[in-house]
Amino acid sequence: MKKLKTQVAIIGAGPSGLLLGQLLARKGISNIILEKETGSYVLGRIRAGIFEQGFVDLVHEAGAADRMSKEGEVHNGFEIAVDGRTTRIDLKKLTGGNAVVCYGQVEITKDLMDARTNAELITYYEASAVELGDVKLDKPTVTFAHGGEEYQLQCDYIAGCDGFHGVSRQTIPADLRTEHERIYPFGWMGLLSDTPPVSEELIYSKHHRGFALASRRSATRSRYYIQVPLTDQVADWSDNAFWEELKKRLPAEAAANLITGPSIEKSVAPLRSFICEPMQYGNLFLVGDAAHIVPPTGAKGLNLAASDVSTLYKVLTRVYDSGDKHCIEQYSAIALRRVWHGERFSWWMTNMLHNFDDMTAHGLEGLTFGRFMASELAYYLASEAGQKVIAEQYVGLPYEDLAP
Ligand code: APR
Ligand code: PHB
Repeated sequence: MKKLKTQVAIIGAGPSGLLLGQLLARKGISNIILEKETGSYVLGRIRAGIFEQGFVDLVHEAGAADRMSKEGEVHNGFEIAVDGRTTRIDLKKLTGGNAVVCYGQVEITKDLMDARTNAELITYYEASAVELGDVKLDKPTVTFAHGGEEYQLQCDYIAGCDGFHGVSRQTIPADLRTEHERIYPFGWMGLLSDTPPVSEELIYSKHHRGFALASRRSATRSRYYIQVPLTDQVADWSDNAFWEELKKRLPAEAAANLITGPSIEKSVAPLRSFICEPMQYGNLFLVGDAAHIVPPTGAKGLNLAASDVSTLYKVLTRVYDSGDKHCIEQYSAIALRRVWHGERFSWWMTNMLHNFDDMTAHGLEGLTFGRFMASELAYYLASEAGQKVIAEQYVGLPYEDLAP
């Protein structure tokens, strides 16, 4: 068995693991990343692309912001349409100057990967049988196999950045872990195409045929979604059928401007809210999707991962700068406070914007719930105070500092 040593072992080379690794390395804290897949597989996963300022700032601090600064689009607002009638959420005005950046998650992952390569930091791609030893030990170990060899990595801390299906979360004993979950009765069918986007700003469209979202990656690349029954599969939707349905659900003016073309990616994703408490156990910290999942309606997935990274980065820099290990215990409570806010916002936006008619199969309950939510959306859109509530959460709530 080959033996390795580092200060922080990071499991998973998604955006969470890569960003954390880059930040720590710039503070002189050594780290090794273990990733189950290949780099190109990681880059093949298409995900949302709306970044809060907090995430943008971290990418700058990580030294990986050059391309994002050039190619990312600043979005000062977005639209919410209800059966064709649109209301613009003027993020900048409503929040006193804040906005979001639109740039693909795949692109930022690539930039972070390149930064890691340039800094000559170690990543084991295609690491298999990754197993965490006793994380209560002072020097925990992670074992894994790579290229036919067995490895043991000894470290001070483990960052579980291995996504929803990773191994890290299972390391927290089941009787010490509470998992909250809500599954929604529909999914999103997404289509990516090299066509000019229908609009400069995102359009979230509530419609009696079901929700639709018009998003974008650049002036020449579009990303669209439609709400579909959970039973629908990619094969059930030809490109043409997708475009026709999207047109029906977008406001008339946008539908008239829609330029269609062949899809370059199509996928169906179920919608889920999930939170694991606590997010720390011994010398293990859970970060990002390993600890929580949101439905994509509020574009919060990556942004919640970013606030976890920020908190863990503060904890570990304090530990290594001052030797004060007490702050370790602050991680979970600080991270979870912001996670719950983001979870609530994503759940709320999902409830208000989707069509719950499928639930009428279960009786009047679904219909009534749908009516409550339609009224809730109308109420919030009708006043500046209501729009502010949406805007300040969309641009992102502030990050919390560690207690002294
Ligand atoms: N060993 C090593 N790596 C693993 C293991 C394992 N047992 N299990 C999973 N992984 C890897 C996955 O292959 C993946 O590359 O961990 C990585 C986790 O990455 P993500 O799922 O992208 O999670 P995270 O980095 O927390 O990203 C935050 O923001 O928009 C959201 O959900 C979206 O991915 C996004 C997330
Ligand atoms: C996307 O562009 O993929 C996207 C944007 C905003 C969302 C969800 C997804 O709320």
